[in-house]
Amino acid sequence: MARLEEACDVALFAGSAAITRDELIAGVQGKQALVCMLTDPIDRAVLDAGRDLRVVATVAVGHNNIDLAAARERGIVVTNTPGVLTEATADFTWALILAITRRLNEGERVVRRGEWSGWTFDFMPGTELRGKQLGIVGYGRIGRAVAARAAAFGMTIACAMRQGGVAASAHAPADVMPFDRLLATSDVVSLHVPLTPETTHLIDQPALARMRRTAYLINTARGPVVDEEALVWALKSRLIAGAALDVYEREPAINPGLLALENVILAPHMASGTRETRTAMADLAVRNVLAVLSGEPSLTPVG
Ligand code: DGY
Repeated sequence: MARLEEACDVALFAGSAAITRDELIAGVQGKQALVCMLTDPIDRAVLDAGRDLRVVATVAVGHNNIDLAAARERGIVVTNTPGVLTEATADFTWALILAITRRLNEGERVVRRGEWSGWTFDFMPGTELRGKQLGIVGYGRIGRAVAARAAAFGMTIACAMRQGGVAASAHAPADVMPFDRLLATSDVVSLHVPLTPETTHLIDQPALARMRRTAYLINTARGPVVDEEALVWALKSRLIAGAALDVYEREPAINPGLLALENVILAPHMASGTRETRTAMADLAVRNVLAVLSGEPSLTPVG
């Protein structure tokens, strides 16, 4: 805020929940720059209301909430915050992998309910990662950062690329394979694709049915990449062993079917949520705004 205020007149929405659509449409009028969150749908109506806009800077790497075609038609630069959240998101992905395979969520609930009666030899056995295959769907910055940590846990890596598969060989030693084979052979499947029409419900009933009964699904990407009804079905039928989710189809609503299950971790979209990373994200968004307003190229344009 201090950096923006040095250079511009700033109108701040200071509500604790997301800004309403009416407030956004009213607030964007006469503004040259908009700093928005992933919870703000920036569609044609918002961009029409903001006819003076020169830049929309979202404080996130995902930009599925912004109508890029409409922004382009109006000559509005759209920026996001890639890079600065890669490591925090990869760390959190591993927190989920470790927690779900070692049943940390279930164990903790038992303790909190006062139902733990002490150490026993065969209490809640988990699954080891050593020697198992981590299948990474989307081998971009975050997917590769997740892969880079796999060696510490003795896992091999498989990846399915969205297009081609050539770039993967230049990074971690990943076995590049078709999506279906990755699903059928991985012990943990972790999703790192952006949300697009092609990736919506990428993990549907047939995809879940292809996975191993002992496999785990991790989603720190975007909720609609997974068909939640299909996931509930697969978890209930024990077609897969468990799932750990940070994102949901209709955030903040959680599918009641998921809430009722033990073999699932439900995190509140917090993978990039460290003080350091959130500060870096805000800083990058501000630098993008200031660059565009001073007639320079933005640092991290989308598209
Ligand atoms: C993003 O940046 O897209 C995450 O979902 C939030 O950090």
